[in-house]
Amino acid sequence: MAISIETSIITASQNRNAAGLSDDLNWWCFGGRGAGAFVQAHHDGIRIGQATVVEKPPFPSQGAFRVAEIGHNYVDKAFRRRGIFSKLVDEIEKFARIEGISALYVTPNSESEPIYRKLNYAFCEEPAELVLIPFDNSVAGGTHKALTEIQKDEYINLTLDCSRLFKGCAKYLQWRFAKPSAEFRFFCSQDRSAIMAVRPGSPGPLGVYVLSEFFLCGQKPPLEITLEYVEQLRQTLTEQKPIIFPSTDRCKLKDRTAVRVYRNFPMAYKRVAEGFIFPSTHQYQFTDSDYG
Ligand SMILES: CC(C)(COP(=O)(O)OP(=O)(O)OC[C@H]1O[C@@H](n2cnc3c(N)ncnc32)[C@H](O)[C@@H]1OP(=O)(O)O)[C@@H](O)C(=O)NCCC(=O)NCCS
Repeated sequence: MAISIETSIITASQNRNAAGLSDDLNWWCFGGRGAGAFVQAHHDGIRIGQATVVEKPPFPSQGAFRVAEIGHNYVDKAFRRRGIFSKLVDEIEKFARIEGISALYVTPNSESEPIYRKLNYAFCEEPAELVLIPFDNSVAGGTHKALTEIQKDEYINLTLDCSRLFKGCAKYLQWRFAKPSAEFRFFCSQDRSAIMAVRPGSPGPLGVYVLSEFFLCGQKPPLEITLEYVEQLRQTLTEQKPIIFPSTDRCKLKDRTAVRVYRNFPMAYKRVAEGFIFPSTHQYQFTDSDYG
Protein backbone atom coordinates (compact mmCIF):
# COMPACT_ATOMS: atom_id res chain seq x y z
CA MET A 1 0.00 0.00 0.00
CA ALA A 2 1.32 3.45 -0.90
CA ILE A 3 1.96 5.63 2.14
CA SER A 4 2.60 9.33 2.27
CA ILE A 5 6.21 10.27 3.00
CA GLU A 6 7.49 13.85 3.00
CA THR A 7 11.16 14.64 2.69
CA SER A 8 12.63 17.96 3.74
CA ILE A 9 16.03 19.51 4.19
CA ILE A 10 17.30 21.66 7.05
CA THR A 11 20.17 23.98 6.26
CA ALA A 12 22.18 26.32 8.47
CA SER A 13 20.04 29.30 7.46
CA GLN A 14 16.83 27.69 8.75
CA ASN A 15 15.61 27.29 12.28
CA ARG A 16 17.57 24.14 12.87
CA ASN A 17 16.64 23.94 16.55
CA ALA A 18 13.15 23.04 15.40
CA ALA A 19 14.51 19.71 14.14
CA GLY A 20 15.51 18.76 17.70
CA LEU A 21 18.85 17.39 16.60
CA SER A 22 21.34 15.93 19.07
CA ASP A 23 24.46 17.94 19.94
CA ASP A 24 26.50 15.61 17.70
CA LEU A 25 24.23 16.11 14.68
CA ASN A 26 24.14 19.88 15.20
CA TRP A 27 27.92 19.96 15.43
CA TRP A 28 28.29 17.72 12.38
CA CYS A 29 25.82 19.47 10.08
CA PHE A 30 26.20 23.08 11.13
CA GLY A 31 29.33 23.45 13.26
CA GLY A 32 31.95 23.36 10.50
CA ARG A 33 33.00 26.11 8.14
CA GLY A 34 31.41 24.81 4.92
CA ALA A 35 27.90 23.98 3.75
CA GLY A 36 25.94 21.39 5.69
CA ALA A 37 22.40 20.05 5.88
CA PHE A 38 20.23 17.52 7.66
CA VAL A 39 17.81 15.67 5.39
CA GLN A 40 14.77 13.95 6.85
CA ALA A 41 11.70 11.93 5.90
CA HIS A 42 8.43 12.13 7.83
CA HIS A 43 5.36 9.94 7.96
CA ASP A 44 2.32 11.21 9.91
CA GLY A 45 4.48 13.91 11.51
CA ILE A 46 7.06 11.42 12.77
CA ARG A 47 10.62 11.38 11.49
CA ILE A 48 11.27 7.97 9.98
CA GLY A 49 14.43 8.60 7.96
CA GLN A 50 17.52 10.81 7.96
CA ALA A 51 20.83 11.56 6.28
CA THR A 52 23.41 14.34 6.51
CA VAL A 53 25.62 16.14 4.02
CA VAL A 54 28.64 18.15 5.15
CA GLU A 55 31.20 20.01 3.10
CA LYS A 56 34.83 18.99 3.66
CA PRO A 57 38.02 20.87 2.73
CA PRO A 58 38.95 20.41 -0.96
CA PHE A 59 41.21 17.54 -1.99
CA PRO A 60 44.76 18.85 -2.65
CA SER A 61 44.71 17.62 -6.27
CA GLN A 62 41.21 19.06 -6.88
CA GLY A 63 41.48 22.41 -5.13
CA ALA A 64 39.04 24.17 -7.43
CA PHE A 65 36.24 21.73 -6.60
CA ARG A 66 34.15 21.61 -3.44
CA VAL A 67 33.44 18.19 -1.91
CA ALA A 68 30.94 17.02 0.69
CA GLU A 69 30.39 13.84 2.65
CA ILE A 70 27.09 11.98 3.08
CA GLY A 71 26.54 10.33 6.46
CA HIS A 72 24.15 9.28 9.23
CA ASN A 73 21.97 7.25 6.84
CA TYR A 74 19.04 5.72 8.63
CA VAL A 75 15.48 4.64 7.82
CA ASP A 76 13.14 3.20 10.44
CA LYS A 77 12.88 -0.60 10.14
CA ALA A 78 9.14 -0.53 9.43
CA PHE A 79 9.66 1.80 6.46
CA ARG A 80 12.64 0.21 4.71
CA ARG A 81 12.75 -0.89 1.05
CA ARG A 82 10.20 1.65 -0.05
CA GLY A 83 12.72 3.97 -1.68
CA ILE A 84 12.84 6.44 1.24
CA PHE A 85 16.60 6.42 1.52
CA SER A 86 16.95 6.87 -2.25
CA LYS A 87 14.71 9.96 -1.94
CA LEU A 88 16.93 11.34 0.83
CA VAL A 89 20.03 10.89 -1.33
CA ASP A 90 18.16 12.63 -4.15
CA GLU A 91 17.54 15.63 -1.84
CA ILE A 92 21.24 15.64 -0.97
CA GLU A 93 22.26 15.67 -4.62
CA LYS A 94 19.88 18.58 -5.29
CA PHE A 95 21.38 20.45 -2.33
CA ALA A 96 24.89 19.79 -3.67
CA ARG A 97 24.00 21.23 -7.08
CA ILE A 98 22.42 24.34 -5.54
CA GLU A 99 25.41 24.86 -3.24
CA GLY A 100 27.99 24.39 -6.00
CA ILE A 101 29.40 21.17 -4.52
CA SER A 102 31.28 19.21 -7.21
CA ALA A 103 31.41 15.73 -5.67
CA LEU A 104 29.80 13.72 -2.88
CA TYR A 105 31.42 10.82 -1.10
CA VAL A 106 30.36 8.31 1.52
CA THR A 107 31.70 5.27 3.41
CA PRO A 108 28.80 2.82 2.98
CA ASN A 109 28.29 -0.30 5.05
CA SER A 110 27.06 -3.65 3.72
CA GLU A 111 23.42 -2.49 3.92
CA SER A 112 23.82 0.74 2.04
CA GLU A 113 26.52 -0.39 -0.41
CA PRO A 114 24.10 -2.08 -2.89
CA ILE A 115 21.88 0.99 -2.78
CA TYR A 116 24.74 3.39 -3.52
CA ARG A 117 25.76 1.13 -6.41
CA LYS A 118 22.21 1.30 -7.72
CA LEU A 119 22.29 5.08 -7.39
CA ASN A 120 25.40 5.15 -9.64
CA TYR A 121 28.03 5.87 -7.01
CA ALA A 122 31.53 4.78 -8.05
CA PHE A 123 33.60 2.77 -5.58
CA CYS A 124 37.26 3.42 -4.81
CA GLU A 125 39.59 0.87 -6.30
CA GLU A 126 41.05 -0.66 -3.17
CA PRO A 127 38.75 -2.33 -0.64
CA ALA A 128 39.33 -0.99 2.85
CA GLU A 129 38.31 -2.67 6.08
CA LEU A 130 37.89 -1.65 9.66
CA VAL A 131 40.20 -4.08 11.40
CA LEU A 132 39.97 -5.00 15.06
CA ILE A 133 42.80 -6.02 17.34
CA PRO A 134 41.46 -7.98 20.30
CA PHE A 135 42.96 -6.67 23.55
CA ASP A 136 44.19 -10.07 24.68
CA ASN A 137 46.08 -10.65 21.44
CA SER A 138 49.59 -9.35 21.93
CA VAL A 139 50.90 -8.83 18.42
CA ALA A 140 54.52 -8.02 18.01
CA GLY A 141 55.95 -7.20 21.40
CA GLY A 142 55.59 -3.46 20.99
CA THR A 143 58.07 -0.83 19.92
CA HIS A 144 59.24 0.07 23.43
CA LYS A 145 58.93 3.70 22.45
CA ALA A 146 57.06 5.33 25.28
CA LEU A 147 54.15 7.51 24.25
CA THR A 148 53.46 10.87 25.86
CA GLU A 149 50.00 12.41 25.98
CA ILE A 150 49.77 15.80 24.30
CA GLN A 151 47.09 18.48 23.95
CA LYS A 152 44.83 18.86 20.92
CA ASP A 153 46.47 22.11 19.74
CA GLU A 154 49.89 20.50 19.74
CA TYR A 155 48.56 17.44 17.92
CA ILE A 156 47.03 19.65 15.23
CA ASN A 157 50.25 21.64 14.79
CA LEU A 158 52.31 18.46 14.56
CA THR A 159 50.03 16.81 11.99
CA LEU A 160 49.11 19.76 9.74
CA ASP A 161 51.39 18.58 6.94
CA CYS A 162 50.77 14.86 7.41
CA SER A 163 49.23 12.78 4.64
CA ARG A 164 45.43 13.15 4.69
CA LEU A 165 42.72 13.00 2.06
CA PHE A 166 42.36 16.76 2.55
CA LYS A 167 45.05 19.34 2.91
CA GLY A 168 45.52 19.85 6.65
CA CYS A 169 43.82 23.01 7.88
CA ALA A 170 43.96 23.91 11.57
CA LYS A 171 40.39 25.21 11.70
CA TYR A 172 39.00 22.08 10.07
CA LEU A 173 40.94 19.81 12.42
CA GLN A 174 39.90 21.89 15.47
CA TRP A 175 36.29 21.27 14.47
CA ARG A 176 36.79 17.59 13.60
CA PHE A 177 38.32 16.77 16.97
CA ALA A 178 35.61 18.67 18.87
CA LYS A 179 32.79 16.14 18.46
CA PRO A 180 30.62 16.74 21.56
CA SER A 181 30.25 13.09 22.56
CA ALA A 182 33.80 11.92 21.80
CA GLU A 183 36.74 12.44 24.09
CA PHE A 184 39.74 12.35 21.80
CA ARG A 185 43.18 11.78 23.33
CA PHE A 186 46.42 12.53 21.56
CA PHE A 187 49.83 10.85 21.93
CA CYS A 188 53.29 11.08 20.44
CA SER A 189 56.67 9.38 20.79
CA GLN A 190 59.51 11.32 22.40
CA ASP A 191 61.12 12.16 19.06
CA ARG A 192 57.67 13.14 17.71
CA SER A 193 57.98 10.77 14.75
CA ALA A 194 54.93 8.76 15.83
CA ILE A 195 51.76 10.77 16.44
CA MET A 196 48.31 9.36 17.11
CA ALA A 197 44.76 10.28 18.10
CA VAL A 198 42.43 7.83 19.82
CA ARG A 199 38.83 7.95 21.03
CA PRO A 200 36.28 5.59 22.54
CA GLY A 201 34.05 3.94 19.90
CA SER A 202 30.39 4.89 19.67
CA PRO A 203 28.23 2.96 22.11
CA GLY A 204 27.46 -0.45 20.64
CA PRO A 205 27.41 -4.12 21.43
CA LEU A 206 31.22 -4.20 21.47
CA GLY A 207 33.13 -1.59 23.52
CA VAL A 208 36.14 -0.51 21.47
CA TYR A 209 38.71 2.24 21.14
CA VAL A 210 39.08 3.77 17.71
CA LEU A 211 42.57 4.59 16.51
CA SER A 212 41.40 7.79 14.95
CA GLU A 213 44.64 8.71 13.18
CA PHE A 214 48.21 7.45 13.23
CA PHE A 215 51.15 9.02 11.44
CA LEU A 216 54.75 7.85 11.39
CA CYS A 217 57.14 10.44 9.95
CA GLY A 218 54.12 12.21 8.44
CA GLN A 219 52.75 9.16 6.63
CA LYS A 220 50.17 6.48 7.42
CA PRO A 221 52.34 3.45 8.21
CA PRO A 222 51.55 -0.08 7.01
CA LEU A 223 49.32 -2.14 9.24
CA GLU A 224 52.20 -4.33 10.44
CA ILE A 225 53.99 -1.30 11.91
CA THR A 226 50.76 0.18 13.25
CA LEU A 227 50.20 -3.01 15.22
CA GLU A 228 53.48 -2.57 17.06
CA TYR A 229 52.53 0.94 18.12
CA VAL A 230 49.06 -0.23 19.11
CA GLU A 231 50.70 -2.52 21.67
CA GLN A 232 52.42 0.53 23.14
CA LEU A 233 49.23 2.56 23.07
CA ARG A 234 47.37 -0.22 24.83
CA GLN A 235 49.69 0.08 27.82
CA THR A 236 48.95 3.81 28.00
CA LEU A 237 45.14 3.61 27.79
CA THR A 238 43.19 3.04 30.97
CA GLU A 239 40.63 0.48 29.79
CA GLN A 240 41.48 -2.85 28.19
CA LYS A 241 39.34 -2.81 25.06
CA PRO A 242 39.86 -3.97 21.48
CA ILE A 243 41.15 -1.27 19.13
CA ILE A 244 39.74 -0.72 15.64
CA PHE A 245 41.01 1.28 12.69
CA PRO A 246 40.57 1.42 8.92
CA SER A 247 43.16 -0.27 6.75
CA THR A 248 43.63 -1.51 3.22
CA ASP A 249 46.41 -3.95 3.92
CA ARG A 250 45.27 -6.77 6.17
CA CYS A 251 45.92 -9.17 3.29
CA LYS A 252 49.61 -8.21 3.39
CA LEU A 253 49.98 -9.19 7.05
CA LYS A 254 52.24 -12.15 7.76
CA ASP A 255 50.18 -13.13 10.78
CA ARG A 256 46.59 -12.32 9.87
CA THR A 257 45.23 -13.92 13.03
CA ALA A 258 46.40 -10.84 14.93
CA VAL A 259 43.47 -8.85 13.55
CA ARG A 260 39.84 -9.47 12.68
CA VAL A 261 37.66 -7.67 10.16
CA TYR A 262 35.22 -5.46 12.06
CA ARG A 263 33.45 -4.45 8.86
CA ASN A 264 34.18 -3.63 5.26
CA PHE A 265 34.93 0.02 4.78
CA PRO A 266 34.60 1.03 1.12
CA MET A 267 34.53 4.62 -0.05
CA ALA A 268 32.07 5.58 -2.77
CA TYR A 269 31.59 8.85 -4.57
CA LYS A 270 29.51 10.63 -7.17
CA ARG A 271 30.64 13.45 -9.37
CA VAL A 272 28.06 16.22 -9.37
CA ALA A 273 30.04 18.62 -11.59
CA GLU A 274 32.00 17.81 -14.73
CA GLY A 275 35.78 17.58 -14.42
CA PHE A 276 36.06 16.34 -10.86
CA ILE A 277 38.40 13.37 -10.38
CA PHE A 278 38.35 11.47 -7.11
CA PRO A 279 41.92 11.14 -5.74
CA SER A 280 43.53 7.72 -5.80
CA THR A 281 43.05 5.86 -2.53
CA HIS A 282 45.58 3.17 -3.46
CA GLN A 283 47.12 2.05 -0.15
CA TYR A 284 45.47 4.97 1.54
CA GLN A 285 44.45 4.44 5.17
CA PHE A 286 41.35 6.49 5.99
CA THR A 287 41.29 8.36 9.27
CA ASP A 288 38.69 10.15 11.36
CA SER A 289 39.55 13.41 9.64
CA ASP A 290 38.51 11.87 6.29
CA TYR A 291 35.04 10.69 7.25
CA GLY A 292 32.61 11.06 10.12
C1 LIG B 1 20.45 1.44 4.50
C2 LIG B 1 19.06 2.03 4.70
C3 LIG B 1 19.20 3.51 5.08
C4 LIG B 1 18.26 1.90 3.39
O1 LIG B 1 17.00 2.54 3.51
P1 LIG B 1 15.76 2.17 2.54
O2 LIG B 1 14.81 3.30 2.66
O3 LIG B 1 15.28 0.81 2.85
O4 LIG B 1 16.44 2.15 1.09
P2 LIG B 1 15.66 2.23 -0.28
O5 LIG B 1 14.28 1.68 -0.10
O6 LIG B 1 15.77 3.60 -0.82
O7 LIG B 1 16.51 1.25 -1.20
C5 LIG B 1 16.84 1.56 -2.53
C6 LIG B 1 17.04 0.33 -3.34
O8 LIG B 1 18.00 -0.56 -2.83
C7 LIG B 1 17.47 -1.85 -2.73
N1 LIG B 1 17.80 -2.32 -1.41
C8 LIG B 1 17.38 -1.82 -0.24
N2 LIG B 1 17.92 -2.54 0.78
C9 LIG B 1 18.72 -3.48 0.20
C10 LIG B 1 19.54 -4.51 0.72
N3 LIG B 1 19.67 -4.70 2.05
N4 LIG B 1 20.21 -5.32 -0.14
C11 LIG B 1 20.06 -5.13 -1.47
N5 LIG B 1 19.31 -4.16 -2.02
C12 LIG B 1 18.63 -3.35 -1.18
C13 LIG B 1 16.00 -1.78 -2.85
O9 LIG B 1 15.57 -2.85 -3.66
C14 LIG B 1 15.77 -0.44 -3.48
O10 LIG B 1 15.63 -0.59 -4.85
P3 LIG B 1 14.17 -0.69 -5.49
O11 LIG B 1 13.23 -0.08 -4.50
O12 LIG B 1 14.30 0.06 -6.75
O13 LIG B 1 13.99 -2.17 -5.64
C15 LIG B 1 18.27 1.26 5.80
O14 LIG B 1 18.29 -0.11 5.47
C16 LIG B 1 18.85 1.45 7.19
O15 LIG B 1 18.51 2.43 7.88
N6 LIG B 1 19.71 0.53 7.67
C17 LIG B 1 20.29 0.61 9.01
C18 LIG B 1 21.30 1.75 9.12
C19 LIG B 1 22.39 1.62 8.12
O16 LIG B 1 22.98 0.57 7.95
N7 LIG B 1 22.70 2.74 7.46
C20 LIG B 1 23.75 2.83 6.48
C21 LIG B 1 24.96 3.43 7.12
S1 LIG B 1 26.23 3.71 5.95
